[in-house]
Amino acid sequence: MEKFVIKGSKALRGEINISGAKNAAVAILPATILAKGVFNIENVPDIRDINSMLEILEAMGAEVVYTNRSTVRIDTRNINFKAVPYEQTKNLRASYYLLGALLGMYNHAKVAMPGGCNFGGVRPIDLHLKGFSALGAIISTDGGMIKAKAQKLIGNSIYFDKVSVGATINVMLAAVKARGITVIENAAREPHIVDVANFLNLMGADIKGAGTDVIRIHGVSELHACNYSIIPDQIEAGTYMVAAAATKGDLLIKNVIPKHLEPITAKLRECGAIVEEFDDSIRVYATGRLHGCNIKTMPHPGFPTDMQPQFTVLLSLCEGISIVTDSVWDNRFRYVDQLTRMGAQIQIEGKAAIVQGSAVLKGAPVKADDLRAGAAMIIAGLCAKGTTEIEDIIHIDRGYEDVVKKLTDVGASIARMDFPNSASLLNKRA
Ligand code: EPZ
Repeated sequence: MEKFVIKGSKALRGEINISGAKNAAVAILPATILAKGVFNIENVPDIRDINSMLEILEAMGAEVVYTNRSTVRIDTRNINFKAVPYEQTKNLRASYYLLGALLGMYNHAKVAMPGGCNFGGVRPIDLHLKGFSALGAIISTDGGMIKAKAQKLIGNSIYFDKVSVGATINVMLAAVKARGITVIENAAREPHIVDVANFLNLMGADIKGAGTDVIRIHGVSELHACNYSIIPDQIEAGTYMVAAAATKGDLLIKNVIPKHLEPITAKLRECGAIVEEFDDSIRVYATGRLHGCNIKTMPHPGFPTDMQPQFTVLLSLCEGISIVTDSVWDNRFRYVDQLTRMGAQIQIEGKAAIVQGSAVLKGAPVKADDLRAGAAMIIAGLCAKGTTEIEDIIHIDRGYEDVVKKLTDVGASIARMDFPNSASLLNKRA
């Protein structure tokens, strides 16, 4: 079994380069299905979710070639839409974007129900399906597969009762070649929504308003291949920003768009950390004592839910009591059990976590419950006294490129180690 082994209490100092945005790339790659041609896409992160999506496209007949570590060439001219591989798609949450892309291109899609992070109970896609139905698709489920079929997709107005990143992007993918105008109201406004819209417009789509809560899509008859560079990953950057403050270090985080990081910057400053913004980099350091603050996660431009676990680790080290509320996902506090094993004092009350500050974290065997919970455990291990072993690091590899190298280069003592025969230490102790 592979684990991360971290020797804590080391301040992070130096420079970290941020990779391409996972949550933009997992939508942009399947969006290539919407046109026949050769795409060159840069700043593609080398992480599990992206490699899974590229394998799915290859299984469907696309030719995928890495021209360098972060640039991929995709030739979609031989894609066969009936060949969506069941096994790979059911394990990847973002495989639901194949529904929107196939529906948009062929008026027909059949994709496995999506997998992905296991927090918040079942991850519903009712809003995605509501959007497809509004465009005239008939939806059915059959043996773990979702089917969507339409004679012709017709533009329509769609109001989302809840702000949904996935549903917003999926309706954009389905509507770009629909007849007439589609208006999405109460749309998600995340940076990756804008990136997907920019990519589709470069393919010849006509999308206006991405980044606001009303997106207008005027259907076009044809789209074409294009070259594109994916935006930097807001959450990877935020994770290292929090790690800098939590370890009382000093990091220059490069290849970022500071505007995308504003909610994280604001909260770090509220805790007393220093954040300096430059054109495409951001410096975070903490010298004095840090004090807690309250966090309520909201859709962008609010504080991102994908930063909630990482920030809670920082708050457990700050002075004073903090309250963390996640208004996006129910029950995204599973990682608190692991954090408590390391000495954090956190009480879960319904949708909120009451964080007692000034914890002295001690290294322990813990596990990564999901992608961002795993990132939180890394930050906790970096700050703890002694050694922390993190299991189930496959979750972390889904979304953080070269995490060991990036952290080692700024002074962390972290290694990926294989324990071939060790049963889970956690089970032994259970
Ligand atoms: C995306 O998930 C991200 N994943 C998540 O990041 C992120 O937490 C989430 O957006 C919110 O920002 C990808 O982009 C691949 P939603 P998504 O639809 O699209 C409810 C990470 O760490 N909802 O915005 O699945 C849902 O239950 C991952 O990178 C419905 O009720 O999230 C949730 O409460 C974890 N019905 C809320 O809306 C639906 O049809 C927001 O979900 C869809 C969503």
